[in-house]
Amino acid sequence: MKIGIIGLGFVGLSFASVLASKDLDIIGIDIDKEKLKIIKTGKSPFYEPNIDKTLQKALKKKLILSDKINDAVNNCDLIFVTVGTPMNSDGTIDLEIILNVCRKIGETLLKTQNNPNIIIKSTIIPGTTINKIKKTLEQKSGKKVGKGFSLITNPEFLREGRAIEDTENPHLIVIGSNSKKESEKLKRFYKKVHHKNIPMIITNNTTAEIIKYANNSFLATKISFINSISNLCQTLPGTNIDEVAKAIGIDPRIGNQFLNAGPGYGGSCLPKDVQALIACQKNLGVESTLLNAVHQTNILQIEEIIKLIKKIVINLKNKNITILGLSFKEESDDIRESRSIKLIQKLLKKQSKITVHDPKALENTKLIFGNKITYCKKIIDAIDNSDCVILMTPWKQYSKLQNIEFEGMRKKNIIDTRRILNIDNNDVNYIGLGIGY
Ligand code: UGA
Repeated sequence: MKIGIIGLGFVGLSFASVLASKDLDIIGIDIDKEKLKIIKTGKSPFYEPNIDKTLQKALKKKLILSDKINDAVNNCDLIFVTVGTPMNSDGTIDLEIILNVCRKIGETLLKTQNNPNIIIKSTIIPGTTINKIKKTLEQKSGKKVGKGFSLITNPEFLREGRAIEDTENPHLIVIGSNSKKESEKLKRFYKKVHHKNIPMIITNNTTAEIIKYANNSFLATKISFINSISNLCQTLPGTNIDEVAKAIGIDPRIGNQFLNAGPGYGGSCLPKDVQALIACQKNLGVESTLLNAVHQTNILQIEEIIKLIKKIVINLKNKNITILGLSFKEESDDIRESRSIKLIQKLLKKQSKITVHDPKALENTKLIFGNKITYCKKIIDAIDNSDCVILMTPWKQYSKLQNIEFEGMRKKNIIDTRRILNIDNNDVNYIGLGIGY
């Protein structure tokens, strides 16, 4: 069995590397030739734990790379589409990339005898597979779903920073199609790949699409919920959001994950998916009171941090502010929709002088701010001479910092939005987000 994977981003490259390292025949396809060149050397174009090792193993085994979609359509039994579905400025989903890929797949299907399963892993708004993708493939190929190709919606749930781990051990597989036979075929494939009893949901295309958005929106809801309780704790002396989260997390109906209060959710998925679902609901005449509140709460969380900074620094103009952590989460160099970037933009408007540190995301951040801010490779260099340190991303190395490392600050003000610092020095004005003082 030959497998094509179109789009070598987080999902596609992780999937291609994991499958090929398990001896499956994989063609990884991407139109970006520069990206392919880097991948060919066994290096991932982005930082992700364990990906280089898995990719190198895959290249030694059965991963081949190509920039031509025809290579997959002519030769593969399963073709996974894993291209990005970014957000338009009005919050709606931009389907141009995925529809372009489908046009090319359709054009090749027209000329080939091959009868592949086309499997959509990209996140797409409910109704897209049936109303747009199916239509495009059928128009361009002159063939019908079920006769000449099949079409399955198979959303992905992996997390950045754990992409390889999650690809190897997914918590769930959702297979949506209108053909029981084709769904069963994909189910057998996954059973073989994982050798484990992973829960599988077999459903139709549109329900599969909704599952993906419901999942991410629910996670976002949990975060905005805990952040709004955290803001309450902030105002009530003696309270601590982590104790509240721990207690409610013990209730099995709530569960203990995604209850870490912080600066709000970022990344290429939760912010985009919540807004796309709101836009989709609006389009269909469905009220989105809850998701609007989730989104607004997330945006306003940065203001809560600014309020804390203003409380201790008073006048922000010309003050040295240090930001620890730029990526939207730890173990990633991804700064898309990162709360740190939003915070820096706001502080620059107030004419603060910004110094930043991040173990992996400095280069990506330089592309946004250029020489408007100062970049430090060493944590201590970022802290020295600062009027206020703000910890934004919970990288492990920050939790190991000792009192002494803050000695060189001009004013010892620290705002810890993740409450991971270990500071017990009376000289330091330490404020943990979600702790009432
Ligand atoms: C998210 C989902 O968790 C994945 O299941 C999904 O596959 C992925 O989107 C996607 O759709 O591709 P990811 O964007 O990698 O994964 O990041 P998360 O781990 O969900 O974190 C998102 C943001 O929420 C981060 O900024 C993180 O710091 C924040 N967060 C997370 C909190 O503030 N508190 C928490 O308790 C958890």
